[in-house]
Formats: sequence, C-alpha cells, structure tokens
Amino acid sequence: MTISEAIETRRSIPFFDPAVPITKEEILRLSNLANLAPSSMNLQPWEYIVCSTPESKQKLRKVSYDQPKITDASAMLILLGNLQHHLHADEVASSQIRNGYFGEERREGFVGSAHGAYEGNAQKQRDEAFRGGSLWAMTFMLAAHEAGWDTAPLGGFISEQVSEVFNIPETHLPILLIAIGKRPADAKILPRNDRISAETLTHWEAW
Ligand SMILES: Cc1cc2nc3c(=O)[nH]c(=O)nc-3n(C[C@H](O)[C@H](O)[C@H](O)COP(=O)(O)O)c2cc1C
Repeated sequence: MTISEAIETRRSIPFFDPAVPITKEEILRLSNLANLAPSSMNLQPWEYIVCSTPESKQKLRKVSYDQPKITDASAMLILLGNLQHHLHADEVASSQIRNGYFGEERREGFVGSAHGAYEGNAQKQRDEAFRGGSLWAMTFMLAAHEAGWDTAPLGGFISEQVSEVFNIPETHLPILLIAIGKRPADAKILPRNDRISAETLTHWEAW
C-alpha cells in the first residue's frame, strides 16, 4: 500500500467487531511508528492511555456520550497532550549529541531554550500539545490502516470527566480518542463525504 493509497482508503469507521482482539505488542508497534511523528524541538508532547479491557472501555464510553464504537473497538487510545513536554529536553539533547548534531557543551543551552519556550506559558504548552498530538494521531491511524486495522478518531468526550475517571494528572490533557479494531464483515460503510477543494482553500503568497 502506498502512502497515497493509505490516505485515500483510510476511513473513520463507525462500527467495530467486538470479538476481535488486539495484542499489546501490536499497539506498542503502531505507537512506536506514530512516535516518529515530528514535533517542535523533537520534544514529543504526547502520551496515551490504552483501554483494552471491557471495564476500561465501558468507563470511557460513559464519559464519551455513550458512543457504542468505544466498547466495540478492540482497544481505545486516550491520546494525551503532555503540557510539560519541555521536561523531555535533556533526553532529547542526549540523542542529538549521540547523533552528532552538537556537542555536550551545548546541552545546557538546548535544555534552557526548551524551558524558556514553554515553562510557565500555558497557552504555548497547550498549542504545542495539540499540534504535536494531532500529528501523532494521524501517523498512528495511517500506520494502523496499513497493517489492516480500522480506526476512528473521536473528539466526542467530556475532557474533565475523562481526566477524573482515568486519574490523568493536570500536566496532561486528553486531546483525542482513537478507536482501533476491525469493522464487522457485513458492515456497510457509506462513501466518503466530499472535501472542500484545494483550489478553494489555498491562498497563494498571502491571504
Ligand atoms: C478531531 C475529530 C473528532 C471527531 N469526533 C468524532 C466523534 O466524536 N464521533 C464520531 O463518530 N466521529 C468523530 N470524528 C470522525 C469524523 O466525523 C470523520 O473523520 C469525518 O467525517 C471524515 O470521515 P473520514 O475520516 O471517513 O474521511 C472525529 C474526527 C476528528 C478528526
């Protein structure tokens, strides 16, 4: 499957076969592919909770407008934005040093600029968490599609209640749910709805 084919054939699937399991290894494999998504300064502002048992999926469904696909999916990911992703800076610097981007003497400067950019700036932390998390989500869904899984992104959840039920700390914000599983063999998926064309949406050089 080429990337164009994956983009063209991925759909937000409304129904999942509840009898289909997914292994932890497969979720981790797909998540490690999604972790290759780009992020500002490579600070990787994402984390995720996997709901794979009937109990945890039911808990999630209750705070997500009772959407049946949540309990039918093989697993649900609660994608979280890490508002303190600047705390990854030291580890990120180690990788840059290992790979020859700069020497040990620039570690402190790199970490300082990450902290300077985000520490105490709630708006910027949140913007970056959503920006990075969105890129992670799309990468995950395309990787899953290539592997024969169906997915659905869900924004229909009550953020405060999700945080409360799943003990999510204030440093992390639920930004999207992703259902992963397999559509039932007899599922009738309606054709994809049209998109507004690039000709309409594109502004060349300035607005
Ligand atoms: C941020 C976001 C939130 C969404 N929330 C829901 C949702 O709560 N429930 C749902 O059934 N679909 C949800 N969707 C799926 C969209 O309706 C779907 O992606 C869109 O209609 C295009 O369909 P396609 O992905 O099959 O091309 C969401 C999609 C996105 C990207």
